[in-house]
Amino acid sequence: MRILGVETSCDETACAIVEDGIKILSNVVASSADMHTKTGGIIPENAARQQIKSIIPVISESLKITFVGSSIISHQSSDKLNTKPKTKNSKLATSYQLSATNIDAIAVTVGPGLIGSLLVGVETAKTLSYLWEKPIIPVNHLVAHIYANWLTPTAVDCKPKAVDFPVIALVVSGGHTDLVLMKNHGKIKYLGGTRDDAGGEAFDKCARLLGLPYPGGPSISKEAEKFLNRSPKSEVRSLNLFPRPMIDSKSLDFSFSGLKTSVLREVEKRKGKNQFNSSTVQQFSAEIQEAIIDCLIKKSQLAVKKYHPKSFLLAGGVASNKTLREKLPTMLELEKLKVYFHVPPPVLCTDNATYIASCAYFNYNPVHWNKVAANPQLTIADNSI
Ligand code: KG4
Ligand code: ZN
Repeated sequence: MRILGVETSCDETACAIVEDGIKILSNVVASSADMHTKTGGIIPENAARQQIKSIIPVISESLKITFVGSSIISHQSSDKLNTKPKTKNSKLATSYQLSATNIDAIAVTVGPGLIGSLLVGVETAKTLSYLWEKPIIPVNHLVAHIYANWLTPTAVDCKPKAVDFPVIALVVSGGHTDLVLMKNHGKIKYLGGTRDDAGGEAFDKCARLLGLPYPGGPSISKEAEKFLNRSPKSEVRSLNLFPRPMIDSKSLDFSFSGLKTSVLREVEKRKGKNQFNSSTVQQFSAEIQEAIIDCLIKKSQLAVKKYHPKSFLLAGGVASNKTLREKLPTMLELEKLKVYFHVPPPVLCTDNATYIASCAYFNYNPVHWNKVAANPQLTIADNSI
């Protein structure tokens, strides 16, 4: 079964075609992150405007890749996207005709996310469903992130990865941080989540305090790397300048807002003493990264010890963080926890439509197109049983 996925929840406009939930036939992402870097964060109205500009070219590109043929993965800035309409006889017209017969269903992110951005994807997907007379599956973006772990990144090797249930999944994105237990597809139990800022949000807000560009996760990680590369092991081991809120509590909830306040205080203190320079930014980046990762790891450990899953799945944009990807499996090994660790390749961790299509395949529940509606407030707990 071939599902065309559409994802427009935030600042990425994405379309992908995935076969049987695992084989990626195309993966096209146009990001407006460059634009948001200039404003120091996302202005929802600007993000929505970019979605409108990018949605048709992105879907067209995805169809062209699948049915006419070219490189499977395409990531580009929405500014550089070719939005000129094509002529009637172009390859594009052919790919649209082909797709009507060769696509079995359409999947679309309905939430959570920014309402203006979500509406663009939802209304476009509904239109395609109506025109092509194909079933449409509404998808929860947070549940879908987890499905990046079922995907194989190349079209050649389509052997599914052995993800055995029960699963504990940690989803860390820009707006959410959630721990869930999955007994099977569609059988999700919410275990805990952030009480205030999300993990990615903590990276983004702390980066801004350090004067680093949006998105903050990759910026902080890059600066932290410089510190880690130049510092002796003892200095790296004692990264404890900032607090780890709730780390000693038995709850599986997280809290990151205190970290941001503490970073603000420390930055102001250093600036007051004229001691804030590029080397401080590198050191603080390493400290912030370590504090966030410590909290994510500790709660993951608690969840695994309590529920004894067969697999642990890391997901969400923050899962592309190199240190987190290394430290989580190390912890599971050191604690002798018998659980298989899975993490998608970084390119599938950040927002794209492959996992939207995959999630729809494994949780196949089509509805009539006029029942599909954007829901910005959706949470992972809404899919909990
Ligand atoms: O899942 P995602 O792409 O979008 C949302 O659904 O929110 O996650 C975006 C978040 C941003 O907060 C970004 O700073 C963070 O993921 N992120 C990272 C890294 N790459 C992206 N955080 C830490 N390290 C990274 N390498
Ligand atoms: Zn996301």
